[in-house]
Amino acid sequence: MSQPRKVSRIVVVGTGFVGSSYAYACFIQGLCHELVLVDVNEEKAIGDAMDLNHGLPFARTPMTIRVGNYSDCKDADLVVLTAGANQGPGETRLDLVAKNARIFRSIIDSVMENGFNGIFLVATNPVDVLSYVTWKYSGLPSERVIGTGTILDTARFRYLLGQAYHVDTRNVHAYIIGEHGDTELPVWSLTDIGRRSIAQYLKDGKGPSQQELDNLFIQVRDAAYHIIQAKGATYYGIGMGLARLTQAVLENENSIHTVSCLAQGEYGLEDVYIGLPAVINQNGIREVIELKLNESETKKLQHSATVLSEVIHSALP
Ligand code: LAC
Repeated sequence: MSQPRKVSRIVVVGTGFVGSSYAYACFIQGLCHELVLVDVNEEKAIGDAMDLNHGLPFARTPMTIRVGNYSDCKDADLVVLTAGANQGPGETRLDLVAKNARIFRSIIDSVMENGFNGIFLVATNPVDVLSYVTWKYSGLPSERVIGTGTILDTARFRYLLGQAYHVDTRNVHAYIIGEHGDTELPVWSLTDIGRRSIAQYLKDGKGPSQQELDNLFIQVRDAAYHIIQAKGATYYGIGMGLARLTQAVLENENSIHTVSCLAQGEYGLEDVYIGLPAVINQNGIREVIELKLNESETKKLQHSATVLSEVIHSALP
């Protein structure tokens, strides 16, 4: 007699642009059995639950979607943190740290007081700092506190490279690592298109020039600023990225994503949450993948970690 599939419950804390886009992505993809929406503005959460439930007759798979509270965290597989102030025009993600660290103190206490023993997914910015804060405040093992890190930057990088080389993004193997922010870096030395290195393309004079590739990375790094200038916030890309990580956990995938995770000696880094390739499964982060970076990439990653460490220790004196 096969075991009945465990009912999977996700609690989303924060149903603003990102949280509601994430909830919609989970619904469309049928990623869990029960989606619980929690927001300080309960009216908003009620409206989102109603709006989503009215789509149920069109949905591929049924899902229970409801407004809840922190007591629902007790039996949750995932608590997804999207609450907090988001970046305004001209603001960097690091400008948000003081405000959002205070909000997180209260949220994490409420989640843990209700007996949560699952996995946190953190998306609120500055996500590397707030992932570290969530790890410290929750007391959970670091493998069960996962930040979205540079998964969206890596997706943007792969999208733009696919456009530049006229190749499906699934055949573009590339990572952005480091801070999800201004000090992130592309791992050019290990980037390939269909197993052909960028260096080989440049050598053969095929595809974009070095200058065009440098500009392409700047488009990746600064994408959020342009989107925020244009429409006030970003939410579809990050909502889908969160849904992708949700699937990797709930389906025990052992797939690799550049999430924000605790460095414990990898790349010579300690005691900092930062975007690195890691294997994700039902237990959270199985392992951090240590890439063979070149000297320039190593220096840039160390600089990114230094910037983050300074901000982390200002947030958690
Ligand atoms: C962005 C937000 C998620 O990069 O920081 O769109």
